[in-house]
Amino acid sequence: MKSEKLQIAYIDGDGIGPEIITEARKVLTRMADIFGHQITFVPVLMGGASIDIHGEPLTEEAIRIARSADAVLLGAIGGDAMTSPWYQLPPQLRPEAGLLRLRKELGVFANLRPVFLYNELRKACPLKEEIIGDGFDMIIVRELTGGLYFGERQTIIENGVRKAVDTLVYDENEIRRVAQRSFLIAMDRKKELVSVDKANVLDSSRLWRTVVNEVAVDYPEVKLTHMLVDNCAMQLVMNPGQFDVILTENMFGDILSDEASVLSGSIGMLPSASLGSPAFAKTVSGEKSLHETSRSNAVFGLYEPCHGSAPDIAGLDIANPLAAILSAAMMLRYSFAMEAEATAIETAVGSVLRDGYRTKDIIDTDSGGKVTATGEMGSLVAARIALPQ
Ligand code: IPM
Ligand code: MG
Repeated sequence: MKSEKLQIAYIDGDGIGPEIITEARKVLTRMADIFGHQITFVPVLMGGASIDIHGEPLTEEAIRIARSADAVLLGAIGGDAMTSPWYQLPPQLRPEAGLLRLRKELGVFANLRPVFLYNELRKACPLKEEIIGDGFDMIIVRELTGGLYFGERQTIIENGVRKAVDTLVYDENEIRRVAQRSFLIAMDRKKELVSVDKANVLDSSRLWRTVVNEVAVDYPEVKLTHMLVDNCAMQLVMNPGQFDVILTENMFGDILSDEASVLSGSIGMLPSASLGSPAFAKTVSGEKSLHETSRSNAVFGLYEPCHGSAPDIAGLDIANPLAAILSAAMMLRYSFAMEAEATAIETAVGSVLRDGYRTKDIIDTDSGGKVTATGEMGSLVAARIALPQ
């Protein structure tokens, strides 16, 4: 097997961030030992951790280091909005502003959030057995660098009345590139794509639908349907098994992915990959299937669990590191084209769950689960990584 050098920037962030990233790095280091790769980990400060030192959540220097790496691994950022001094700062200096800026600067417009149910976690799923049925396995593609998150906003006083405005803007290019990425992902899966919008009300959603339909012409094998976001929120809990790939805009994707995540047993299980354009990485032949990429045209990406920084349980060694560990596996798959290495980590996670190890968030009374600390969970996964047979 070819030995590779991996340059990974990592951002511990705040709250439980440092604990879960320590475990993800532990697992990556073990993977590298077994597969004969060399990893250099480069720390980057972001969020509250950066505010405490530099007075801002993301410095130019931090962006430069993140950009120069092959990929970026992120824990979580932010604190308790009621008590943390970070939230006394103006909005553009708060921890979340650093994360949004990083996503924008790295150009990672397609956020992939895979939601599936490990058979071992069926009891932790809040849905009834008959609704779970044969389980579910879907991927939510959330547009990540446009929409309400990045439109102009302001709070003003008009005729003595306080007024706040947020703007939702999408241009056709922003919609097209994330739609193309979603069709490519669908081509690798069941070839079924549901595009989620609010086209019965919003202009931005009507343009979204039009552009997605135009892109669909290039992918005649993919069955495309459109669904309104309110209906989608309902369908996710009534019949999650119907979904394969869901494509949606930034804000809808933020909300739907939290909803979907708990179906997999805990939000602590849900990893994500935010990918830029393969053009970033010198593809000559245009966009191919993501799984066909070789190292030379693998995509740059930012990899982070979908959960937050959970300041209430920070430092207690009880946080679930699996979303961070599974995000590291996604990094190997998409940014290093290391399918075998990614699968080795995912298989190790499955094996640990099968043996009943559970962090507190996924413990359920009748599973006979063994309550497992954050560090122990990471060590268990690392120890089970093996070369493919
Ligand atoms: C997420 C988070 C972020 C978002 C927050 C922390 C700004 O909720 O990644 O889903 O809204 O994108
Ligand atoms: Mg969110």
